[in-house]
Amino acid sequence: VEAFFQPKLLAGKRVLITAGPTFERIDAVRGITNTSSGKMGFAIARAAAEAGAMVTLVAGDTPLATPRGCERINVKSAQDMLAVVEPRVVACDLFISVAAVADYYVLNQSEHKIKKDAHILTLELAPNPDILASVACAANPPFCVGFAAESENLLEYGEAKRKRKQLPLLVANLVQTAMGADDNEVILMDDDGQHRLPRAPKMDIARRLIGHIARLYPRWQQ
Ligand code: CTP
Ligand code: CA
Repeated sequence: VEAFFQPKLLAGKRVLITAGPTFERIDAVRGITNTSSGKMGFAIARAAAEAGAMVTLVAGDTPLATPRGCERINVKSAQDMLAVVEPRVVACDLFISVAAVADYYVLNQSEHKIKKDAHILTLELAPNPDILASVACAANPPFCVGFAAESENLLEYGEAKRKRKQLPLLVANLVQTAMGADDNEVILMDDDGQHRLPRAPKMDIARRLIGHIARLYPRWQQ
């Protein structure tokens, strides 16, 4: 009976989540993208909604179905993603940045399809805005959760990323383990140290992450 009346972990909280890959246009038919299925971000959106949160999911290209109860906004490029995220930051309590954002966009985009010839084609790439870093260093930022996808030196690179972006919580995983898979294995990094979540379905990892966030958030808020 008692459990029945227990309020949900994120009841009434507004959660903004980015997920999936971004896509940077080269020409009318080509582009540069990151490998990302969107599964982890969508699982987190679902877990947050189950925990009573109001969830807005900003998604790059993925065929995944929108989790029940979530508002979904589709985007292509990193700059599109930033344009959707930026005005919504003031109205959210938590920002969870799961998207595999392309680090560069193509400067010399072509309106028409580039025709091949025998010469070397050079693409000029310019750095994209760091969406998470800009949200985390805003005045009155929401509680920000970052992801670090690394192929080596997970602990060292993860902790450095958390410091650099000033995040209360970072989720580090190895790309070899996570990419496209239904399972994941992550390390949560926060001010108390590192917590390993052993290999499990992404939905289980998502629910445990939401539990961890719900414990940290009230302390962080004070
Ligand atoms: N991120 C972002 N905007 C970017 C790049 C990254 O919001 N332009 C976010 C990701 O969603 C993730 C975190 O920042 O939550 C870390 O992304 P990652 O690619 O691992 O780190 P980078 O800071 O881009 O550094 P690098 O790719 O060189 O490791
Ligand atoms: Ca990156």
